[in-house]
Amino acid sequence: MGENTRAVHLPQPPPPRQEPIGLPVWRSASWASSGDHADVTDADVADNPTVDAFAAAVAALEGAAAPEDVAGQAFSSGMAAITGTLLTFLGNGSHVVALAPVSGATHKLLTGVLSRFGVSADFVDHADLLGVRAAIRPTTKIVYAETLATPTMAVADLRGLYQVARQAGALLVVDSTFATPVVCRPLEHGADLVIHSATRYMGGHDDCVGGVVVGRPDLVAKVRQTRIDTGSALSPDDAFLLRRGLESLPLRVRRMCSTAMVFAASLARHPRVRRVDYPGLPTHPGHQTARHLFDSGPEGTRFGAVVTLTPHGGFAAGAALTDRLRTAAVAPSMGGTHTKAVHLASVARSGDALSGVDAGAVRFAIGLEDAEDLIADVTQALDALGSLPRART
Ligand SMILES: Cc1ncc(COP(=O)(O)O)c(C=O)c1O
Repeated sequence: MGENTRAVHLPQPPPPRQEPIGLPVWRSASWASSGDHADVTDADVADNPTVDAFAAAVAALEGAAAPEDVAGQAFSSGMAAITGTLLTFLGNGSHVVALAPVSGATHKLLTGVLSRFGVSADFVDHADLLGVRAAIRPTTKIVYAETLATPTMAVADLRGLYQVARQAGALLVVDSTFATPVVCRPLEHGADLVIHSATRYMGGHDDCVGGVVVGRPDLVAKVRQTRIDTGSALSPDDAFLLRRGLESLPLRVRRMCSTAMVFAASLARHPRVRRVDYPGLPTHPGHQTARHLFDSGPEGTRFGAVVTLTPHGGFAAGAALTDRLRTAAVAPSMGGTHTKAVHLASVARSGDALSGVDAGAVRFAIGLEDAEDLIADVTQALDALGSLPRART
């Protein structure tokens, strides 16, 4: 053989004789098949095994007690997973009833992108189940909700939504990024498909991007076909990191929820705080629904790890509060080891669905630091607001 052929056809190691405990990264974009390939369809084409392992792992976690088999399909990002799912079940003339608030990117996808292809959407407040029912049309194909929705941390009444969707013959599609399968598994409460931005809690270290859809195998097979047709495959390296993150997901999420509970309860008492939105507080409108739907775990660890804190003083107070933070990073993401804070009105772009949110609201995505350090950090930043000139609201 010539030197190039020898270089290309290097010996391949045999499969290991012992089972690896860590997941192998199959860094191959092409797969050779033997025999007659004339009839090979998309359904036969292998997905990357590392990517499949991640999707199957999420399906196992979300489907732990689901009434039916659960399959999963991974995507290159959370938005790719949402886009792929919506494109699969919507077409020209289709209608979506989405619960508000919904993440800014999903709002834009529905109102700015899919609207150009003949899809219409109505947004109904989370608390208004009758409104959801009233918004249903003969063309409604999807009822779309987030289990926990920022910035108000609204809790979706999944069982009520399931009834409405079923009567309408529509699918209940739930973005459960903020809940994770640790605190809520929407398939157990009637959801047809569950989507995650795996970038957040599943990866958990701010170092990879991915998304995943899980649900009934026949529905997921259709979503997979859209993923193939539109080209949003997850990379095996990111799949490896995301799958690895799942192994410590319960430990991280329970700990973050526990810190968030203490953080919310403690800072709600600070005199410069106007309100705290956190479903763990008995005053939150979603508190009872969360108690019904969310998997209890140790007390105080099931209400999510995102807290929206609104200081007195409007826009200037919210901006000054984030400027003065020393421990929390100022960043719009969530789910990683570092606590992140974002002054919502400072980052809102035109068209963002921020109506009704106080101009001072700051969203804290709690990380793995010690609760006392986070509380001390926000307390010093709040104390310093005392010296602010009278703020515009
Ligand atoms: C609830 C929710 N879903 C989906 C997404 C989109 O995820 P990704 O950044 O992985 O595309 C986000 C982004 O923050 C989100 O907050």
